[in-house]
Amino acid sequence: MVAGVYLHVPFCAKRCHYCDFNTYAGLDDQIPRYVAALRRDLAAVAAAGPAAVAPPGAERSPEWPTFSSVFVGGGTPTYLPAEDLAGIVRLVGEVLPMADGAEVTVEANPETVDAAYFSALVDAGVNRVSMGAQSFAPHVLADLGRWHERDRPLQAVADARAAGLANVSLDLIYGAPSETDEDWAATLDTVLRVGTDHLSAYALTVEPNTEYAARIRQGSALAPDDDVQAARMTVTDEWLSAAGMVRYELSNWARPGFECRHNLTYWRSGDWLGIGAGAHGHWQGRRWWSLRAPARYADAAMAGRSTTSGFELVTAEQQRTERLLLGLRMAEGVARGDVEPLDESAVQQLASGGLLEAGDRLRLTPAGWALANDVTVRLLG
Ligand SMILES: C[S@@+](CC[C@H](N)C(=O)[O-])C[C@H]1O[C@@H](n2cnc3c(N)ncnc32)[C@H](O)[C@@H]1O
Ligand code: SF4
Repeated sequence: MVAGVYLHVPFCAKRCHYCDFNTYAGLDDQIPRYVAALRRDLAAVAAAGPAAVAPPGAERSPEWPTFSSVFVGGGTPTYLPAEDLAGIVRLVGEVLPMADGAEVTVEANPETVDAAYFSALVDAGVNRVSMGAQSFAPHVLADLGRWHERDRPLQAVADARAAGLANVSLDLIYGAPSETDEDWAATLDTVLRVGTDHLSAYALTVEPNTEYAARIRQGSALAPDDDVQAARMTVTDEWLSAAGMVRYELSNWARPGFECRHNLTYWRSGDWLGIGAGAHGHWQGRRWWSLRAPARYADAAMAGRSTTSGFELVTAEQQRTERLLLGLRMAEGVARGDVEPLDESAVQQLASGGLLEAGDRLRLTPAGWALANDVTVRLLG
């Protein structure tokens, strides 16, 4: 059994225009209490054991399995003082059994880190860093509401390497209306020259309740264009494949062997503990989520109360739908037996239309990647 641990840090220096993650700017005074609360909650969840998160009727082992990945995400985990973040990572290994060679990732914003910061994380057991670069075109960064200098992520990658991190990932966002084909080509060229081990490239999405959505409503920003985004996705795959990176998920490329194990656990519908404000967890078909507001989460944890806000038992039908949705986004696809019954006439039509490989496993073809959502909807009928 493969299981992961997710920890959420809901603070950022400033809110990017496109982001609707559970994160807050201007709550710096809450950080020390939140760190204490996260540590308490982590220790309490670990001490309660798997019976506290498993669904009724599941085999209730008294012992945790070994965990093969830890992912500290946000928000901006590296907005925390280095000793606080390092202390949280250390605590995971003290209270939960970790597999040998477990993947331990921290998300970082480039302008919050330097070699000394990374060294403190490496000393605590961090072996992977995932950083948001988003673009290497200054006007696109400005539109996205990113405030770091164009080349700051390159310095951060060099600092990570200097600290001994052998697994470095960058996030990119393509398809902002001000981005030209040349801007995107220059961005891809830059990341390939810096030589990261893993890349996530996402189409810019307009989320309600963001600065970006407000600007579109006011007429001061344009919405992204679907056709431009589809073309950028194709170009991205061409460039990254030619450089020897493997597209193992719709928006993720890795040098062979550097696929993100933690995210694969999500996409393979595995089990993970979710700890921190607004974090979601999943254990053997039971899903739960924590109080979203950092202060409420901290109040509950510090008072020794449960930080869970709600839970659900995932029905067999929901499980099947999720396995298909997530499985089709991966290059490995999904075992047909795990997602049946399917609309067989849709399977045949999609296969003969060149969008789906339909053997024992269902997989999108290269042409199918561009239409992943449509294919999934048609398979679900
Ligand atoms: C938690 S952030 C990553 C770490 C860090 N906070 C940073 O921004 O550098 C997760 C990533 O999701 C992506 N993302 C968030 N909102 C998005 C949106 N509306 N459209 C496309 N990508 C988005 C960005 O690439 C971002 O780097
Ligand atoms: S993209 Fe990253 S830095 Fe920007 S608001 Fe979201 S979590 Fe914070």
